[in-house]
Amino acid sequence: MSPWRDRAGRLSPLKSVAFLLVLAPGLWLAVEWAVIGLGARPFTTALRETGQWAIRLLFLSLAIAPFRRIFNWSDLIAVRRMIGVAALGYAIAHIGLYTLDQNLDVAKVLGEIWARFYLTIGAVAAVGLLALGITSTDGMIRRLTGRRWQMLHRAAYGIALLAVAHFFLQSRSNVWQPTLMAGLLIWLLSWRLWLRRAGMAGMGLRLGALGLGATLATALAEFGWYAGMTGIPALAVFAANIDPAAGLRPAWAVAGAGLTVAAGAEILALARTARTG
Ligand code: HEM
Repeated sequence: MSPWRDRAGRLSPLKSVAFLLVLAPGLWLAVEWAVIGLGARPFTTALRETGQWAIRLLFLSLAIAPFRRIFNWSDLIAVRRMIGVAALGYAIAHIGLYTLDQNLDVAKVLGEIWARFYLTIGAVAAVGLLALGITSTDGMIRRLTGRRWQMLHRAAYGIALLAVAHFFLQSRSNVWQPTLMAGLLIWLLSWRLWLRRAGMAGMGLRLGALGLGATLATALAEFGWYAGMTGIPALAVFAANIDPAAGLRPAWAVAGAGLTVAAGAEILALARTARTG
């Protein structure tokens, strides 16, 4: 079945848009590489871009369940598999580029994966993503039955955690992006453990609390990273969160995302109340 069609074979606008959106970064990167080049180290640039898109799409696939519920948008489920498979596609491209950069010397690649911890956890995440991809066909979902399939696919949170650790460990001193991803993962995990089964009454407020909790946890995670893994004064980094001159800090980006979702839920609830009188 074409990715842009629904189960009945009709053209689905939502799936068509999602399909174009997940393809766009890869196409853009390929065209940029071919037309203007990717700078002095094109493989490293492409490796980084594909890695970033793999993790972003993995997170987006995890965000479908909460967004579906919060925004009462059940159709979103139709694009979750596509987004997850796209994350796997970017991860495969990422690993393929790394292998190409090592002159296709697979033994060397395996040796590096064995020797470097950040590559080892990246590889475990990749194997996990592959397992989820293979078990995402209609046939496999049927064979595994709903409950077992759901249990297996819960592993996506563990894979996301490994991907964030891989991101952190290779970034070392500039961890803006991995910190943001860690904060978003804290939000997603907290949603799953705390709010997934909660009723919709008061959801805006609960989401507000979740957003603020994730903000604080993000700032603490960043502090922990700098304190434990670098010689950079972690307290100064923590204090930068309340210094407007320090620019947008990851914790504030998490606050922006979390509070936008909370505000969206609240507005939706108010609109629903106004409609029903
Ligand atoms: C066998 C598996 C993997 C290998 C060998 C690998 C290899 C690498 C390497 C060498 C880098 C550093 C690039 C540089 O020099 O800056 C990197 C960065 C990265 N990888 Fe992987 N990776 C693997 C799996 C994954 C997976 C499964 C994901 C995501 C789901 C991922 C996401 C990333 C991200 C986000 C970065 C950072 C990009 C940046 O610096 O902006 N990787 N990876």
